[in-house]
Amino acid sequence: MACKVLIVGGTGYLGKRLVKASLAQGHITYVLHRPEIGVDIEKVQMLLSFKEQGACLVQGSFNDHQSLVDAVKLVDVVICAISGVHIRSHHILLQLKLVEAIKEAGNVKRFLPSEFGTDPARMANAMEPGRVTFDDKMVVRKAIEDAGIPFTYVSANCFAGYFVGGLCQPGRITPSRESVILLGDGNQKAIYVDEDDIAMYTIKTIDDPRTLNKTFYLRPPANILSQREVIGIWEKLIGKVLEKSTISKEEFLIAMKSQDYAEQVGLTHYYHVCYEGCLTNFNIGDEGEEASKLYPEIKYTTVEEYLKRYL
Ligand SMILES: NC(=O)c1ccc[n+]([C@@H]2O[C@H](COP(=O)([O-])OP(=O)(O)OC[C@H]3O[C@@H](n4cnc5c(N)ncnc54)[C@H](OP(=O)(O)O)[C@@H]3O)[C@@H](O)[C@H]2O)c1
Repeated sequence: MACKVLIVGGTGYLGKRLVKASLAQGHITYVLHRPEIGVDIEKVQMLLSFKEQGACLVQGSFNDHQSLVDAVKLVDVVICAISGVHIRSHHILLQLKLVEAIKEAGNVKRFLPSEFGTDPARMANAMEPGRVTFDDKMVVRKAIEDAGIPFTYVSANCFAGYFVGGLCQPGRITPSRESVILLGDGNQKAIYVDEDDIAMYTIKTIDDPRTLNKTFYLRPPANILSQREVIGIWEKLIGKVLEKSTISKEEFLIAMKSQDYAEQVGLTHYYHVCYEGCLTNFNIGDEGEEASKLYPEIKYTTVEEYLKRYL
């Protein structure tokens, strides 16, 4: 059944895909248009293209509480994809204003905050400085739950563009045809998801009672792979074995210290994923659901298909 959906952060890397997926799945899709984007011509053009595709633009600002209340009053479901990657920008806590607006409006049947990564509830022992991402996301979760707002938290694991594109090497987003650096032994399993698939699964679940007040994990079975396995797929595609070197856990942590703050945040995340296996070292319990089990009919993009784009 068609829902009325408001997407906040709709011009972002993930947000634009959420808008596309929401329209494709037949929902009445509103996209927040913040006056603060001013003369950012690309964002304005993107918003206009959403409108052409059938979305409704709704004015609203994080500096104007009433405008947020009015925007969320229009819909059943609010999805926020506000920025949360330090090398781009990080505004996760701004969502507290959105939570206040949703609470006051009182009509929203489900809120999906900007998560879409590692499950922050499992990262209580994460390292500085990267733990800020998880801590801030947990602050938002607490506000949502304290306000009694129905929610779904999407744990999307690794965006393929960042991790698969760079063969799991931080600071690289295209695969080399010559060499690769293994993080440790390169055998820790991680989970990679095509960004369009993240959006598709997210929209699929917005009115599914099975994911209400739960964490929704995206674990496409064919994409649960170690760095070595990702490299192996690429090597098969290019018909060539890459030269390999290794960076140990200790060397990685020492090198991290000389980077600036934003880089260190990202490197901390790579550390937890690639050296510690934080995405795969637990089973999903009663508080969660897994996307490929709930929606086995969906054909997701495999790592091999994703890597073919770089040929
Ligand atoms: N698992 C992974 O590998 C991975 C990778 C990347 C991101 N993520 C997660 O995905 C989520 C979205 O990240 P993203 O990279 O897609 O974000 P992004 O493209 O950097 O930004 C998304 C949107 O945030 C809004 N925004 C930025 N600054 C703002 C401000 N000062 N005030 C209000 N809104 C502001 C803008 O939306 P409007 O201009 O449309 O309002 C922007 O388009 C985050 O939670 C992030 O942690 C996960």
